Amino acid sequence: MPAARPAGPEPPTAAGLPTAAELAGYVVAAAVWAPSVHNTQPWWFSASGREISLYADAGRQLPVADPRGREMMISCGAALFTARLALRSLGYIPETSVLPDLRQPLLVARMGWRRRAAATEFEQRLFRQVLLRRTHRGGFDPLPLAPELLTTLEESARRDGAILRVIADEGSRATLAAVTETAEHALRADGMYARELASWAPAPGGTRRDGVPHTAYPARGERTLPHFASRDFAHGHGWGTARPSLAAGLRCPGVVCLLGTAGDRPVDWVNAGQALQRALLTGATCGVAAALHSQPLERARLREFIRAQLGDGSYPQLLLRLGTVVQAAVSVRRPPASVLFADGGEHLSIGRR
Ligand SMILES: Cc1cc2nc3c(=O)[nH]c(=O)nc-3n(C[C@H](O)[C@H](O)[C@H](O)COP(=O)(O)O)c2cc1C
Repeated sequence: MPAARPAGPEPPTAAGLPTAAELAGYVVAAAVWAPSVHNTQPWWFSASGREISLYADAGRQLPVADPRGREMMISCGAALFTARLALRSLGYIPETSVLPDLRQPLLVARMGWRRRAAATEFEQRLFRQVLLRRTHRGGFDPLPLAPELLTTLEESARRDGAILRVIADEGSRATLAAVTETAEHALRADGMYARELASWAPAPGGTRRDGVPHTAYPARGERTLPHFASRDFAHGHGWGTARPSLAAGLRCPGVVCLLGTAGDRPVDWVNAGQALQRALLTGATCGVAAALHSQPLERARLREFIRAQLGDGSYPQLLLRLGTVVQAAVSVRRPPASVLFADGGEHLSIGRR
């Protein structure tokens, strides 16, 4: 569980059905809590009548780590899933078109709502995790996860057009750990990449509402066997949180999973993001946290190696480790009002802070 519960959407309370504007505010206040690469929050929303459009914010793309915008679109897909879930939590049936195409590459999706059906108990449980879920960075407790949960995660990824595979054999897990370590070394040695990461990992004491704060990662990385290297958010400053002493020593890497898609177009990336958020929230309902690793997928040759050697031919989009752990991470988000534009208004990308 996170140390502090962030402020989230307040359900519309007025008698009767909420207005379209109230509903859009509620949906966006939830959607901003989706995970995003380096917490770039690369999205903005436009509301017009009973429709919300979700756009990728190219000004928040990572030109060095993510030149194609793949991780930006995965992040937007996670926000899209969260927005759909928020509509469901109020008893609306979202009508969604996932759109990015050559004519409008930054228009990720449009969501409308007309019909109603009460949210299921499971949808309500998923929705309650939107604010509570946090990315974990480190090892896990040595407890096995229920096989039924893993089967559910695999099945539900398919609903979003993605493929989640549990990598169970020791050889493949060791290979993925080694590839992650190789990527992490290469990225740390790349000056442009290191500067880009540093620009999204602010120093303690600031007021930024984006990027990865020092409260979200441990000051001392934990070793797991095999070891999955973490990103260097502190870049030599010693920032980060202290771990409780009982967490010291060698810990478990958890259940290693590869999230992939059959194709590798923007629409596949958005679908991977939707599947990611569905899997993260489903795990969270069972007290299961996730550590995410995209370092090897940011190096084209390592990504191709994973696809050829460890995949089933699908395109790897994200590496996940799942497990149970006492979590202390705290993250930040920009206020929903800064990313929601009414009546078809447009966002001008003029800098990110
Ligand atoms: C596409 C994508 C790639 C990510 N890659 C990493 C990663 O390599 N290492 C990491 O620690 N977190 C990674 N994350 C997690 C983000 O850093 C995290 O979602 C963000 O900081 C917000 O924090 P929260 O998930 O706790 O809300 C990734 C998230 C996404 C959506």
